[in-house]
This record gives sequence, structure tokens and C-alpha cells, in this order.
Amino acid sequence: MYEEPQDWPAPGDSVSLTPQQEPSDQDVETSLRPRKLGEFVGQSRVREQLELVLHGALRRGDQPDHVLFSGPPGLGKTSLSMIIAAELGSAIRVTSGPALEKPGDLAAMLSNLTEGDVLFIDEIHRIARPAEEMLYLAMEDYRVDVVVGKGPGATSIPLELAPFTLVGATTRSGSLTGPLRDRFGFTAHMEFYTPAELELVVRRSAGILGVDLRDDGATEIATRSRGTPRIANRLLRRVRDYAEVRSDGAVTREIARSALDVYDVDEIGLDRLDRAVLRALIRSFHGGPVGISTLAVAVGEEATTVEEVCEPYLVRIGMLARTPRGRVATAAAWNHLGMSPPEHAPGEAQPSLFEE
Ligand SMILES: Nc1ncnc2c1ncn2[C@@H]1O[C@H](COP(=O)(O)OP(=O)(O)OP(=O)(O)O)[C@@H](O)[C@H]1O
Ligand SMILES: [Mg+2]
Repeated sequence: MYEEPQDWPAPGDSVSLTPQQEPSDQDVETSLRPRKLGEFVGQSRVREQLELVLHGALRRGDQPDHVLFSGPPGLGKTSLSMIIAAELGSAIRVTSGPALEKPGDLAAMLSNLTEGDVLFIDEIHRIARPAEEMLYLAMEDYRVDVVVGKGPGATSIPLELAPFTLVGATTRSGSLTGPLRDRFGFTAHMEFYTPAELELVVRRSAGILGVDLRDDGATEIATRSRGTPRIANRLLRRVRDYAEVRSDGAVTREIARSALDVYDVDEIGLDRLDRAVLRALIRSFHGGPVGISTLAVAVGEEATTVEEVCEPYLVRIGMLARTPRGRVATAAAWNHLGMSPPEHAPGEAQPSLFEE
């Protein structure tokens, strides 16, 4: 008699669809990270502009402008930052906003830079205020004033820095102060990827990981990945497991579908929480408008999770609309749950990712 493999998750277990990095992503992401601009899929506008900025500066022998990347998690901000250093042939020093609590921490970091280095500050919106103020001068004049001593005897010693390029990344560009934002010569907002772009991402990853990924399998994974390369790579790994345990290892459409059904990822990439949010909005609040915290309570989740994890994608694919009076389910959301929308339901708020 056939026995179910024991290590396989029961239906209802789910693969995480949060776009934030999970511990299990870490090692594999390093190997899957594109290394050069040419390997970086999608974001064609950002890529083209960045190429001009970098290669223009290289030609003139100038230090390139400081660069800020903003956008939801998992869209390639860190990858692009590493690529900047690679394109410039420079060393990259990596730190993050929360690590720069005291100005001294930042001064130490800055004074260790050598000419042409790239300084990458992840989560730059979380940098402490005094460090941020030190950064203004460093970005503008390659100089910092280090304060020595305390009280009336304190003196400030100017310190020359080697010319460097600051690359900042943030998932919350709205929390950045104006003065900091203004000091970046080039800012780029990362957009969600189209299914066609995600198909290229998973094919490339399958090549690196040695997965036998068929064309229709790639399409299936891409359309369920919420516009996010990190999720696409995660789903590819889960589907590969399924293909190896349940079949001959080839990732076809059938295999991808069955695997992702097991993991509760639906055909447009919504997971249980997304569907719960839409269902609550429609069933309990007749489609809204309803405030985000009320909605979060209805699905038993934190408001921030609903706001940062579910909402951006639901809005992006036109299932949810933000109005001054609260969140509203669109006609597409009613249809997705198999119900006919009432007259007052708004149409799609934005062009869907799935219409190309
Ligand atoms: N354009 C791309 N082409 C190929 N792979 C990509 C691309 N963008 C992202 N990836 C893959 O997704 C993973 C996550 O990307 P990355 O760490 O750069 O995202 P991020 O925007 O910095 O996320 P976070 O906000 O969580 O820091 C990378 O390891 C890489 O494998
Ligand atoms: Mg990152």
C-alpha cells in the first residue's frame, strides 16, 4: 500500500508568503543574487537610469551620486546595491540604520572608507537623528565634525573623508526626513514585477539550483509569486521539494499547481490571510469602507501585518482600494471569492499585474 511521506506538510500547512526575508531564505539568496546589472531581471527603467548614472561617472572619473532605493521587501534593493559596487569595481561596506545609533558609530564607519568605496545603509529610515545629521555633511562635503569632550569644553574636530557613494535602501520612504532624501542624487522606487519578469527570475534560479523547471511550471510559479522575486524563489524551492518527493523531479504546471495547492497559495498568489482579509471585508463589512485596525481584528492579525504584508499586494492587483473612509473591496475581490459584486463596489483601482 502507498504510504504518504511523513515529512510532507498536511494540507493547510502553508509556505510563508511574507515578502520579508526568512531564516530559510538567507543562504540560498546569497547564491541566487544577481551580480551584474545585466543579470538583474526587470525594473528596466531603474536599471537603465542607474547604468547611465554609474557609467557616466566612471567615464568622467567622478564619484557617482548617492543612490536611494525604496520599495516593498524582496524586490531587489539589496541586490542592486551590491551590483552598484560590482559595476564600479569598488569595495562595499554594509551597515544598517538600526546599527547606527550613535554618531560615533557612523564616524568610525565613514573614516574607514577608502576612495571610491560604496557605503550601503540598509533600512536607512531607522537611522538615529544625531547620526543622520552627521550624514548630511558627509554626503555633501565628504567631511564630518567629530565632537570631542562634553559640556563647555567640547570641541569639534573636522575630519576629511575619502570620496564615497552612499547607497541607502528603505521599505518606508515616507519615514525618511526631507533633508536626508534631498541629499540623494538618484532615487529609485522599485515596482512589483510582472509575471513575465518573475518567470525569468525563476528560470535563472532553477538554472543555478539545478532544478528541472519546465516552461509551464515557470509560468505557474511566476503568476503565484505576488510580484516579488524573493517569493518566486521561495515557491520554486517548495515546488522542487514536492516534485522530488512526489514525482520524478521535473517541475511541470501540474506539479507546480498541486504543490502550491498543498501550501494554500491560490492561483493569483493570495494566501490564507489575504483571502481572510477579503472575506472579512466582504462578509462582515459588506465590502467596506472599514478601518485597517477593525479589519485586522476581524482576521485576528496585527494591524501592521495586514497593512504591510497583505495590503500592498491586494491594492496592486486591484482587489482592495484605500479611501479616506477606509478600505473597500473592489468588484474584482467579490469575483475572486465567487460572489457577485454589489453596484457600489468600485472597479479595479489599478491595472492588474495580470493584464499585460
Ligand atoms: N531583479 C532580480 N532578478 C533576479 N533575482 C532577484 C531580483 N530581485 C531580487 N531577486 C532575488 O530576490 C532575493 C531578495 O532580493 P533583495 O534581498 O535584493 O531584496 P530587498 O529589496 O533588499 O528586500 P528587503 O527589503 O527585505 O531587504 C535576492 O536574493 C534575489 O535572489
Ligand atoms: Mg534588503
